[in-house]
Amino acid sequence: MLAVVPPPVTVRVPSKVNLHLAVGDVRPDGYHELNTVFQALSLTDEVTVAVTDEPGVEVVGEGQDEVPTGPSNLAWQAVQALAEHVGKDHTEPKIRVVIRKGIPVAGGMAGGSADAAAALVGLAALWRLDIGRDELLTVAAKVGSDVPFVLQGGTALGTGRGENLIPVLTRHTFHWVIAFDRRGLSTPKVFEELDRLRAEGDPPRIGAVEPVLEALASGDPRQLALLLGNDLQSAAISLRPGLRRTLRAGVNAGALAGTVSGSGPTCAFLCADGESALRVAAELAGAGVCRTVRVAHGPVPGARVIGGDESP
Ligand code: C5P
Repeated sequence: MLAVVPPPVTVRVPSKVNLHLAVGDVRPDGYHELNTVFQALSLTDEVTVAVTDEPGVEVVGEGQDEVPTGPSNLAWQAVQALAEHVGKDHTEPKIRVVIRKGIPVAGGMAGGSADAAAALVGLAALWRLDIGRDELLTVAAKVGSDVPFVLQGGTALGTGRGENLIPVLTRHTFHWVIAFDRRGLSTPKVFEELDRLRAEGDPPRIGAVEPVLEALASGDPRQLALLLGNDLQSAAISLRPGLRRTLRAGVNAGALAGTVSGSGPTCAFLCADGESALRVAAELAGAGVCRTVRVAHGPVPGARVIGGDESP
């Protein structure tokens, strides 16, 4: 009897920016306790999962040569984690993953985590799993700290490693300009640098999260701009001093405020509206401080199936 092969499934998944990233002290397990506000942005990756006799990962698009395609690829780890969770062969699941990248690689925008989240959502559909969102979020958290958020999308308060999420009420859409740096930064190295800076002299920490939540509820980008904060920013700048110039250039170009996104080196600039974002993007692109400039908006939904594909 001929087995029916299900058609491939494609998932679109957002990137994230941290509007507020308060980093606590390092925990015994090596992670840092976080208190963060994530927002999902329209800068996306697309991931297709398909049943195959040639398992593995393929990457095309933004930064494709910098993404590992072997066992360290986070989307592949997600495939293995979900296979194990549902009792399928997880050593080499018969799955091909094709990643089309739009999110900068090693950029602090959860690009690798996004691909993992997309693989989970895609596989759940491909394998027709009877699995709830909460169960998928639990598997996501095992794969990486940011995977649950990009799976869920929107705007959320994240605690623990960043994996415990509470949705945050927001009004209106916020408009962003995103500046990609020429090279990525390693997340563990940026956290280590923060530990080092703190051991040397405890740099100032960002304020409380409540005013950020109020600004989001009000929908006023000017109010939010005053409150953007990231404890990892000083560490990212210490490792990549040129970021100071990038941040200044965005504000000089007319952004309301700029922040290093997560562990960097991508910088995100909050703008007054969509038109202003286009103007800031054009000016920043000409300032010679970064490799690529994009506009984006948020919040947007999390990882979602965008349709089947009948090709083999
Ligand atoms: O969870 P994930 O694998 O994405 O984390 C990557 C690295 O970032 C960790 O190995 C750790 O060095 C650092 N990290 C941290 N505290 C967090 C999240 C990540 O120190 N809350």
